[in-house]
Amino acid sequence: IELEGFNTLHVAAVARFYVEVHDTRELSEALEWAQQKGVGVLILGGGSNLVFDGDYQGLVIRICIYGRHWERVSGHEATLVLGAGENWHEAVLYAARAGYRGIENLALIPGTAGAAPVQNIGAYGVELSDTLVSVTALDRQSNTLVELGNKECQFGYRDSLFKQTPGRYVITGIHLALSREKPMSLGYRDLEEYLGGTVDEELEPADVAEAVMAIRRRKLPDPAITPNAGSFFKNPVVPEATFEKLKSVYPDVVGYPQPQGVKLAAAWLIDQTGWKGFRNERVGVHNRQALVLINHSGGTGRDILALANRIRASVLEQFDVELEMEPGIVRSVNMG
Ligand code: EPU
Repeated sequence: IELEGFNTLHVAAVARFYVEVHDTRELSEALEWAQQKGVGVLILGGGSNLVFDGDYQGLVIRICIYGRHWERVSGHEATLVLGAGENWHEAVLYAARAGYRGIENLALIPGTAGAAPVQNIGAYGVELSDTLVSVTALDRQSNTLVELGNKECQFGYRDSLFKQTPGRYVITGIHLALSREKPMSLGYRDLEEYLGGTVDEELEPADVAEAVMAIRRRKLPDPAITPNAGSFFKNPVVPEATFEKLKSVYPDVVGYPQPQGVKLAAAWLIDQTGWKGFRNERVGVHNRQALVLINHSGGTGRDILALANRIRASVLEQFDVELEMEPGIVRSVNMG
């Protein structure tokens, strides 16, 4: 099966085997089938955070486990339970329109609910880990369904247990703790500017979701129109001393203090190297957000990765800072 329609970068790639699973039983069966056949397995959600580097020789399992419901509703608090295949953005709107706060800043992030914990999606001062109670997953090591609490998921900046142990867990659902009265997070610069002085009490989570959507539409390309995979690099965290040294040469360098050092804006670094807006006939760098790589026309995974490597080399040369790629790379030969 052709995978071009199943990844937001619209990279052409063929999967040798493909199946859609609708519940845990179908998922177990598919995994067992792959094991018997001796082929690797690739779990696919919305395909918004991966790059196919060639065809895939194993079994692609598309997670179509749907469903959303409220659990443990008490007073102003409630738990939202989402099947892994649910569209993330629709879930955000569903919660926000019900008046529940906690994930409104994560509006318009492409992908599925089940993929969200893997990279601990985050935007405008909020990360999934702020509201995530637990993840249900099939543990391929013990072949049992497990429920992993927030701590066990070992969340970090665009990082989690699931990213650290690729192939071990297949996420089937997530539980989020939301609230109708918890203060919202409105301090991220772009958001604060956009809301321009509106007092917190007047704002409903649906208003904040709308604001985030407007900001994102202004800066980030819509993957449905302009194929991309969101931020292609993580914002690198460097030691305080490195930041000070950079600042003495580049007074405008953008950095946010962290417990472990200073998080640099990778977009700013790339912007300085002159790559922003670059394009060749196939791939390029978005002209309004230097962190986003774009597949303009028929670009392959190779084209995207070659461009990414040239950008990394420029940033390394000019700033002596290593950029780490954010999306996962799916190699043509994958032993699963
Ligand atoms: N900047 C530039 N040039 C650019 C773009 C930005 O110099 O082309 C500067 C801006 O002026 C700003 C700074 O870089 O001072 C940071 O930019 P921005 O606020 O747009 O956020 P970001 O750090 O580039 C991160 C996330 C995004 C998330 C936004 C908003 C990462 C890797 N990316 O981007 O997440 O939407 O913050 O919270 O952490 C994603 O992960 O796919 C993603 C889009």
